[in-house]
Amino acid sequence: MSTTDPFPRPPRSLVGPIPDPDELYGRKDFIDHLWRLIDANNILLLAPRRFGKSGVMRHVLLQPRPGYVPMSFELEDVDSPEEFVWRITKELLARDKFRSILSQTKRLPAGVMTWVRKNFDEAEFEGAKVKFKAEIRADWRDAAHRMLLELEQADETAIFLFDELPAMLDLILERQGAAVANDFLAWFRTVRLAQRDVLRRHRFIVAGSVGIDQILRKLSATDKFGDFARLTVDPLDESSAIQLAEGLAETFEIDWNPELSDRLFTLIGAPVPYFIHVFFAQLGQLTATVRSSMTIADLNRVYAEAVLGPTCRHYFGHYSSRLKRYGRAGEKASMAILRAVAGRGRVSRPALFDVYRKSRGRGATELEFDDLLASLEYDWYLRLDTDTNEYYFRLKVMEEWWQRCYPLAASKARVQKR
Ligand SMILES: Nc1ncnc2c1ncn2[C@@H]1O[C@H](COP(=O)(O)OP(=O)(O)O)[C@@H](O)[C@H]1O
Ligand SMILES: [Mg+2]
Repeated sequence: MSTTDPFPRPPRSLVGPIPDPDELYGRKDFIDHLWRLIDANNILLLAPRRFGKSGVMRHVLLQPRPGYVPMSFELEDVDSPEEFVWRITKELLARDKFRSILSQTKRLPAGVMTWVRKNFDEAEFEGAKVKFKAEIRADWRDAAHRMLLELEQADETAIFLFDELPAMLDLILERQGAAVANDFLAWFRTVRLAQRDVLRRHRFIVAGSVGIDQILRKLSATDKFGDFARLTVDPLDESSAIQLAEGLAETFEIDWNPELSDRLFTLIGAPVPYFIHVFFAQLGQLTATVRSSMTIADLNRVYAEAVLGPTCRHYFGHYSSRLKRYGRAGEKASMAILRAVAGRGRVSRPALFDVYRKSRGRGATELEFDDLLASLEYDWYLRLDTDTNEYYFRLKVMEEWWQRCYPLAASKARVQKR
């Protein structure tokens, strides 16, 4: 190996945790591109769960470029604007530089000032959460806006990394209603508009595992995120994927070769790093004898019995449970659509409309069908082959998992299989 090898050690087995910067395979160009964009843009990072968004954000957080101060926020469980402002405040106060800037202003609401002036103690602040939120409930918009304004005095650009923001919007909608969710969106938009003049030193990187467009449609706010530069976190390029596979083979002491990598990626459908990790965690359980003479037949067996089997089912659970976002009728109809595609491989749009209509009954409309398919595409289940006008699963492993969990009646599957 050359001295410039970025991965001098065999990788840790990571089946779910956010990778550290030195554990990220194949994202160098992506991260370089992101830093070039951030100079003048806010960024929306889109990819299904476990494709590697948080890992990229963690890299931005831990290895910032000169002139930037990134701060990271996990928003999945935030259910109100006050909670959001609470988290922002906590992070800002925990940084000496920002706290000292905030302590010099007189324009913050009293509830915030108390904490700015005191010797900031994170544990104590945590204990005062309920009171703090109650105090800022009425004027959270103003409080948050003013705090951000004050940060302009810093000589560095603050980058706010908002992970799982669409899930936060879903939760606010569910717990507080559409008016509050829309209010938040409107506030966030105003902040971004102010970046042209008064908030020039603020950038936002927003990530979401579920389609942002769907929640925006629900809130009739589809224009509210148009100003973001959209980046998708894709599967790895082939050479990085091979590097990861070879590294993991070393970690698990498996006798590996290029044919096995090839087969592994074919089985998964595309080299998504998470599924490579999942696969190797299973391969690692084989006996030393099998690991020291691994064959394609072993890979096939582990795939069918373990990766698609009951042990791995919970890894995929998220993909079926998040269909609940589509509402009860939408969930049922999209299950029927996914089941049909998984059973038949490729299904034309008109044939899917029939499936949808049967499931939906009298409530079926062309418009809702279009929306559902668009959501299934945004949410990374399906893809449209524009040449044939047929839908198919984005990832083979997902298709087969779907097929196993929700089989199509055997007779139908046989007749219509591609
Ligand atoms: N670049 C990468 N290199 C190696 N493994 C990765 C990479 N990106 C993601 N992973 C794998 O995916 C899992 C989830 O990554 P994460 O960044 O948390 O995804 P997301 O935020 O999209 O859900 C990790 O535990 C790891 O198995
Ligand atoms: Mg994540």
